[in-house]
Amino acid sequence: MANTEGAKKIIADISNHDLDQWVRTDSFSPQLEESVRGHIHQELTTFVFFRKLAADCARSNIALHGFARLWERSAAECLADFHWLEKYLVSRGGRSKPTAIEPPGVEWPADPVEPVEPCREALFVERRLLEDLQRLCSLAEKSGDAALCDTIHNHFMHKEVKHVKDLADMLQQVVRVSKQPGLGIYLMDQELRRTNGSIPWGSANDTHIENNSFSRITECQES
Ligand SMILES: [Fe+2]
Ligand SMILES: [Fe+2]
Repeated sequence: MANTEGAKKIIADISNHDLDQWVRTDSFSPQLEESVRGHIHQELTTFVFFRKLAADCARSNIALHGFARLWERSAAECLADFHWLEKYLVSRGGRSKPTAIEPPGVEWPADPVEPVEPCREALFVERRLLEDLQRLCSLAEKSGDAALCDTIHNHFMHKEVKHVKDLADMLQQVVRVSKQPGLGIYLMDQELRRTNGSIPWGSANDTHIENNSFSRITECQES
């Protein structure tokens, strides 16, 4: 009988508790939670931005289908990051609170087809994602939340640094071929069509790949 009463008391105790608060660590402060939601919001806003570029490039007036695939990939990555971070937020005892998404102000010029301005905007949008992650990371460090720091480093930082560099290279090439209107942009688009929207020089900007080849070189030198 006493055991039954004891079990009932424990069940009542736990039922009255906010279990999210038990999942949370003290270091995961309300301010930190709000900042994670801020990044989730930014990923969604960026998703809409890249979708807009993809839809513009697919128009018959523009018909840059290689570029369209690149922006589709960029949008898909933002959506995946949004989804991943939302799950992470909940796994830390946080709550999702979606807010309104601002419409993108970008429009790919069609007459004439002019890629420089939208490519510059794409670079800045991607860089803003990286800057927001860095802000989030310093806040996590200040709060002593090692788990969040670790997540940002492992899941986001390396690839976002690379994406910014990839898009800066893209902007430079777009500017180069735009100095003389005509064939250049067609050839760039053809290259992107061939890779199905992957950045053709992406592996050149991957520092992990670079490290591997460097260790292979040193291995050869040692043997
Ligand atoms: Fe992202
Ligand atoms: Fe990215």
